[in-house]
Amino acid sequence: MASYEFIDHKFDVVVVGAGGSGLRAALGCAQAGLRTACVSKVFPTRSHTVAAQGGISASLGNMSQDDWRWHMYDTVKGTDWLGDQDAIEYLCRNAPAAVYELEHWGVPFSRTEDGKIYQRAFGGMTSNYGEAPFQRTCAAADRTGHAMLHTMYGQSLANNTEFFIEYFALDLIMEDGVCRGVTAWKLDDGTLHRFQAQMVILATGGYGRAYFSCTSAHTCTGDGNAMVLRAGLPLQDMEFVQFHPTGIYGAGCLITEGARGEGGYLTNSEGERFMERYAPSVKDLAPRDMVSRAMTIEIREGRGVGPGKDHIFLHLDHLDPKVLHQRLPGISESARVFSGVDVTKAPIPVLPTVHYNMGGIPTNFYSEVVTRDGDNPDSVIPGLMAVGEAACVSVHGANRLGSNSLIDLVVFGRSAALRAADILTPGAKQPDLKPAQTDAHLARFDRLRHAKGATPTAQLRLDMQKAMQEDAAVFRTGESLASGVARLDKIHGQRTDIQVTDRGMIWNTDLIETLEFDNLIGQAAVTVNGALNRTESRGAHAREDYPDRDDENWMKHTLTWFDDATGKVKLDDRPVHSFTLSNDIAYIPPKARVY
Ligand code: FUM
Repeated sequence: MASYEFIDHKFDVVVVGAGGSGLRAALGCAQAGLRTACVSKVFPTRSHTVAAQGGISASLGNMSQDDWRWHMYDTVKGTDWLGDQDAIEYLCRNAPAAVYELEHWGVPFSRTEDGKIYQRAFGGMTSNYGEAPFQRTCAAADRTGHAMLHTMYGQSLANNTEFFIEYFALDLIMEDGVCRGVTAWKLDDGTLHRFQAQMVILATGGYGRAYFSCTSAHTCTGDGNAMVLRAGLPLQDMEFVQFHPTGIYGAGCLITEGARGEGGYLTNSEGERFMERYAPSVKDLAPRDMVSRAMTIEIREGRGVGPGKDHIFLHLDHLDPKVLHQRLPGISESARVFSGVDVTKAPIPVLPTVHYNMGGIPTNFYSEVVTRDGDNPDSVIPGLMAVGEAACVSVHGANRLGSNSLIDLVVFGRSAALRAADILTPGAKQPDLKPAQTDAHLARFDRLRHAKGATPTAQLRLDMQKAMQEDAAVFRTGESLASGVARLDKIHGQRTDIQVTDRGMIWNTDLIETLEFDNLIGQAAVTVNGALNRTESRGAHAREDYPDRDDENWMKHTLTWFDDATGKVKLDDRPVHSFTLSNDIAYIPPKARVY
């Protein structure tokens, strides 16, 4: 092995990731007087939150009367009852304050005629416990994530967060079950770093790039999730992968659900607004799992559009061009660039596309990472938190409602900071790290850097992405999932033959992509194994061989561990939290999910 030296840093808190949740957590910790570092693979304003379009949910009641309890009811129903209701209560209660905080920091929200924050309709958001579609999603045109990210980066700088930009996080430094820090590779000069901290907060996003077609940035490789697996900790509910109904056909880029919120609708080859058959009351504004399934059925039954009859049309051409210009400028441009469509004149060709991971690192509503330890399913891992798409709180359960992601980022980014401020002492002495704790990190890094096999990383990555796309799709069967398990196992085994050609330490994109692939393959494996194991249909997990939800046997979270040496997956479970936080709101018992 080559010899490597670490440059050491000591902080109270190290946040890994500079998207919406990472910035909100870092900002809060720094404001609380904790010396805070934010380590990011990309420049903060390039984090994937920048691509979030349609908006952020909160019961502000700016368009008509609203109630956080209605938001909570919609969210619980949206999750197909797999969400933890204590965490969902926390989310919906705290959402309005979190949005006003963003407003006061300077997020340029779109406005109503009387100057209030504009809110649009989104899938599954209703008034009065399911009565009718409802405008609860606060929007900055169709660039809401962009506006939030830029504002929070500015605020983080103003509050003395120390940024370490273009550092690739390698692994968690664990000692006797406690997280003590994280190692990272600085991409532009090739140095290696140890960040020691009282608390590490993982805000590393989702792993959409395990699939062939997704709306996620190329950087969305779930690096934090993979570090957690390598630390011998489990991930939760990884079988629940969200397909967004309206990715641009062929390109996969997102066309916001806000397009349907503003009045857009889907049609099949017969020109039929088919969602009226699948969700008679909310139609095109049904939750994403339902719309994606309906589109897939239309295509399968021969009613897809285009020469291959393999996609669906999204119509905005009936809308006032002024509305398109004012509320949907970004997607109007995306449609022109990526599908050659002028949205004022023609429909956009769309197809369900992987968009979001409901599963991730299990946490409680304080954002502390938890695991099952014998009889205790909520055992806290000291020194480790997770927020945002990397985490599974679980407020999204089996299916996330659109616009509940951006609010999750800021509500739980804030909760992590509040908890850190509560349990940490600024500047507290930390024990010195022993070199042995990071030897395994270096060994893995060096093994991949000097890999001399015959199969390029890009080939293995493509094989993995194709397996996930074909075998763990909108609809799954035992047969397809067993095939996925076998294909991924084989690809995992082929890592011994991986080929890296660049041995350098400075901006070695060959090695970066290899580390990312190595991160993805474990997450792909636990996804298909979890999906094969869950013999029911719930939310985004639609098993054709088990078409019904089975509350008796499956009202529980899946836990999955991955043994990187053998590629084997271990499964267990945690109970769903069927209780709320406060006496003034009752648990919402499961019932049929009809819209
Ligand atoms: O459709 C969208 O604008 C995406 C929003 C979300 O995933 O929450």
